[in-house]
Amino acid sequence: MRMYDVIEKKRYNRELTKEEIEFFVKGYSNGEIPDYQASALLMAICINGLTREELVHLTFAMSNSSGRLDLSELKVPGKYIVDKHSTGGVGDKVTLIVLPIVAALGVDVCKMSGRGLGYTGGTADKLEAIEGYDINIPLEDAIEQVKKIGVCLISQSSDIAIADKKIYALRDTTATVESIDLIASSIMSKKLASGVDKILLDVTVGSGAFMKNLEDARKLARTMVDIGNLAGVETKAIITSMSEPLGRTVGNAVEIKEVIEFLLSNEETLYSNKSKDLKEVVFEIAAYMIKMSGLGDDMEQNKKDIFRCIVSGQAYKKFIELVMAQNGQVYDVYMDWVGKELPMPVIKDTANYLKEIHAQNTGVIVAIDSKKIGEALVCIGGGRIKKDDEIDYAVGFDFVKKTGDVVQAGETILKAIYNDKDKFEEAFGYIEDAIVIENRLPEVADEMKHQSHILDIVE
Ligand code: URA
Repeated sequence: MRMYDVIEKKRYNRELTKEEIEFFVKGYSNGEIPDYQASALLMAICINGLTREELVHLTFAMSNSSGRLDLSELKVPGKYIVDKHSTGGVGDKVTLIVLPIVAALGVDVCKMSGRGLGYTGGTADKLEAIEGYDINIPLEDAIEQVKKIGVCLISQSSDIAIADKKIYALRDTTATVESIDLIASSIMSKKLASGVDKILLDVTVGSGAFMKNLEDARKLARTMVDIGNLAGVETKAIITSMSEPLGRTVGNAVEIKEVIEFLLSNEETLYSNKSKDLKEVVFEIAAYMIKMSGLGDDMEQNKKDIFRCIVSGQAYKKFIELVMAQNGQVYDVYMDWVGKELPMPVIKDTANYLKEIHAQNTGVIVAIDSKKIGEALVCIGGGRIKKDDEIDYAVGFDFVKKTGDVVQAGETILKAIYNDKDKFEEAFGYIEDAIVIENRLPEVADEMKHQSHILDIVE
């Protein structure tokens, strides 16, 4: 078989066979097929797409390109191991909140998370904003940890789906990332190799997500759900909005602080409308994880259990257990709003400057473009442009106002925390462009505030 013929066939939009796809994946992984030929094939796939059969062959070939994670030691009769994966966004701290909640409620989770690249953040980076937290513990230790405390959160293992790792790096430099077929096969190859029984996908849509519109998000979700189910791993997808940053904060240290605040909520703060978007997504995903794990079929009851788990302090306790198990530093501190002394993670949050950004005019905030806010974060050093860039954990944005809020000219919309004045000047342009305030009727503002962030469920 010659790679030249495989490329030509796909260029003419003819269906590749299982053997041809495996030939490409194997040959590229072991260095026999050069970058230029792999790039040509990826571009042809980007332009012509893949049939369902080709997609399945590509996903399975990448998934089988190296070792699989063996989670058999964690299997318990009647209970399924569920993984949760988000297609990424800005201010997305859902994993950090959901995992301690579901683990406290008996769902075992062994989760691998990636680093951020470009304007989207990564859970692995956020965790490293905690002093000492080790995201690189060996897989055997991670499994032991799940046996002990029910949860671990580590970085994506380089031993899993090696072919995807190589192909993704090439796509990143050849403008071939934005293909629904390639994104679906890339994500699912890793998920299928991670040894779980069931997969719950959070497919984000909006300016700060890969998918910019609902139609494409539905296509991506359907494609991934079908691949998972074909592989015998029950897969569901929740489509969530990422048109404005999720929750109140964007950045690494600031997001960890928001996670802590969320997990320390009392009945009053959890009922209140603060970070309504984040709360809605957290409750939906956590309730689905409980359902898929076999521990509770009734979604409403699951949500009640989640509520109690948070306000009783169980979820925060589990979060601290997770942090400490992975060497994160904690100190005891008296918390006014909780009324007692509790362990608190040591966070890398030393920043020199804080600046309040004010509304330019009076009206309703109709948009806070999450991509632009993500780009502003990269400008001040909180995200990466290249994979090996160092990041500044302390910098970020804390939103006082969100979409649908009525503001007076001069009122504070967000607080920017940064270390470098020149970098902030550049970021300021993105922030100004991101926030749109218009003169609208109060009913319009109200409607915006009550819009659901759960846009669809694909099963
Ligand atoms: N995340 C992945 O793992 N792969 C893609 O192609 C896009 C997002």
